[in-house]
Amino acid sequence: MTDDVLVVHGDTPLRGEVRVRGAKNLVSKAMVAALLGDCPSRLLDVPRIRDVEVVSDMLELHGVRVSPGKEPGELRLDPTNVERANVDELNVHAGSSRIPILMCGPLLHRLGHAFIPDLGGCHIGDRPIDFHLSALRQFGAVVEKSPQGLSLTAPAGLHGTKFELPYPSVGATEQVLLTAVLADGVTEVRNAAVEPEIIDLICVLQKMGAVIKVHTDRVIEIEGVRSLSGYAHRPIPDRIEAASWGAAALATGGDVFVRGARQADMMTFLNLFRAVGGRFEVDDGSGVDSGGIRFWHPGEELTAVALETDVHPGFMTDWQQPMVVALTQARGLSIVHETVYERRLGYTEELCSMGATIQVYRECLGGTPCRFGRRNFKHSAVIAGPSKLHAADLRIPDLRAGFSHLIAALAAEGTSTVYGVSLISRGYEDFEAKLTGLGAHVGRP
Ligand code: EPZ
Repeated sequence: MTDDVLVVHGDTPLRGEVRVRGAKNLVSKAMVAALLGDCPSRLLDVPRIRDVEVVSDMLELHGVRVSPGKEPGELRLDPTNVERANVDELNVHAGSSRIPILMCGPLLHRLGHAFIPDLGGCHIGDRPIDFHLSALRQFGAVVEKSPQGLSLTAPAGLHGTKFELPYPSVGATEQVLLTAVLADGVTEVRNAAVEPEIIDLICVLQKMGAVIKVHTDRVIEIEGVRSLSGYAHRPIPDRIEAASWGAAALATGGDVFVRGARQADMMTFLNLFRAVGGRFEVDDGSGVDSGGIRFWHPGEELTAVALETDVHPGFMTDWQQPMVVALTQARGLSIVHETVYERRLGYTEELCSMGATIQVYRECLGGTPCRFGRRNFKHSAVIAGPSKLHAADLRIPDLRAGFSHLIAALAAEGTSTVYGVSLISRGYEDFEAKLTGLGAHVGRP
């Protein structure tokens, strides 16, 4: 299929401006939150990405009316007539997204029953849902697994509970929030994730009437209420996409202004970007101008660094792949310790086929031993640079690694063919048009 293949002409510094819209990893959750309201919600600045399409379809199958609003990028979500969806129709979406697991609580509250088809998402580790299921069971849900998916009921209703997450999982924290807001009584979740997207989801729920307190030390307390209304919300900008463009500017020797990027959500990325030798300048904007961040290559040699991915406020696991491409151009030995997902370094093989020198290890090469140490996961990498990259045929394994392959192809000498690019549209709006706008020479074969 030629629409899944992109030909990328290399040696092209990316220069110009791109705009990022609402964060993918908030927008999809805010769409699910709309199910909890007794009147319509308005979500602004929604990117046109595949994940949004999948969640829209799933909501529509449950009777939510999803329609464009007045502003460009605005979605209106009307949950007035939520109904049970047809299992065969839901199963069409089996394997296409991980968001449906977050519909459990809201559907149980609205309908007393939920059916969740098999989940999808990127293959970057096992990605179990054990924390989700044990939280739901503690709320009072009865979960039955079948070959098609999960069936949930709540015979005695859902009631508040105390829960300690074994790891500060983003999805499991969202599961608890979306279930606890309408549960009977108070819920306390310890060791919760506190990513900016979680805090933004809490803002959405608060607008709907929820009572949520974020305490210090990863403790969140939710007081269940009887009903919630709709919301109008402008999401935080997509800090993963913003960092991807920043890393692309550095790897290709370019200069990119990312309109919409926000410093507060990207501090850890900016620290590392500076340590490598990249330059950035924050524009706070004024009036209706949202401002943004300009990222550029200084023209001098880049420096190797050690980086460890972690939960917020650490260096995001989703920033790792694009940054590694830039690190192939830095002088010395860079060390990467991936502590969030056990299999998120597989894509480095493709970079090696392009001339990069990257060795992966089972040991924890960072300062902190992680959950994956002494197990069979190659979750640390050493990158020796700088390497002259050359063109190759590349196959995209997952969303973030896929974008990194594109960056590598742009930085490389010669013309690369990249297969499986439709995966990138799961999370990057109009990426092909944006690349072209930055001076990249890309096209269909
Ligand atoms: C979210 O995934 C994001 N996805 C991911 O972005 C992101 O990488 C990740 O959070 C970490 O920031 C969405 O928001 C849609 P987790 P999520 O639960 O919620 C383990 C992208 O490209 N775990 O925080 O699924 C899990 O295996 C995507 O935009 C369990 O063991 O991540 C992992 O090792 C990729 N049991 C760790 O926790 C569970 O029940 C963190 O996962 C749940 C998670």
